[in-house]
Amino acid sequence: MEAQAVHVPDNEQYRELKRFIDANRGVPGPLIQVLHRAQKIFGYLPLEVQHFVARELSVPLSKVFGVVTFYNFFRLDPIGDHIVNMCLGTACHVKGASEIIRALEKELGVKVGGTTADRFYTLSTARCFGACGLAPVLMLDDEVYGRLNPQKAIQILRDMKARAREAAAAETKEEK
Ligand code: FES
Repeated sequence: MEAQAVHVPDNEQYRELKRFIDANRGVPGPLIQVLHRAQKIFGYLPLEVQHFVARELSVPLSKVFGVVTFYNFFRLDPIGDHIVNMCLGTACHVKGASEIIRALEKELGVKVGGTTADRFYTLSTARCFGACGLAPVLMLDDEVYGRLNPQKAIQILRDMKARAREAAAAETKEEK
């Protein structure tokens, strides 16, 4: 898989990335730094962005793809507006975290690491939030929820979605 010419939309995100790349051309081994910046700008690293980086840095696309898939902080898929982070650390595992994650996968229709079709939620897991006394624990964005079971966890997500819907409806009303 080699870098080749691709159509690159002429928009501010690409221009910002191009400026960053140009400013870092002299830096040795800029690939990871450039990919970090690209992910910050785009939210994730779709193939089109990887093509762009490969072409701009004159490295094979296979190398860019290899780096992106090797490090788990790089994302190939878009992230949802809200991150559901279920703890699978020992304390939470013992108290049924796996059962909760299965229920959440079913509820959201995605596997761990996936994003719902409406890009509202991304489902993720972690290895301890330091709140083991509350196990099993889930973090929804920056909020910690403890002593959960599958039903409670699902309800938390449904409630947040309902609040978002209400807020959107109120905004539409105000605009009229
Ligand atoms: S193991 Fe889940 S919070 Fe520590």
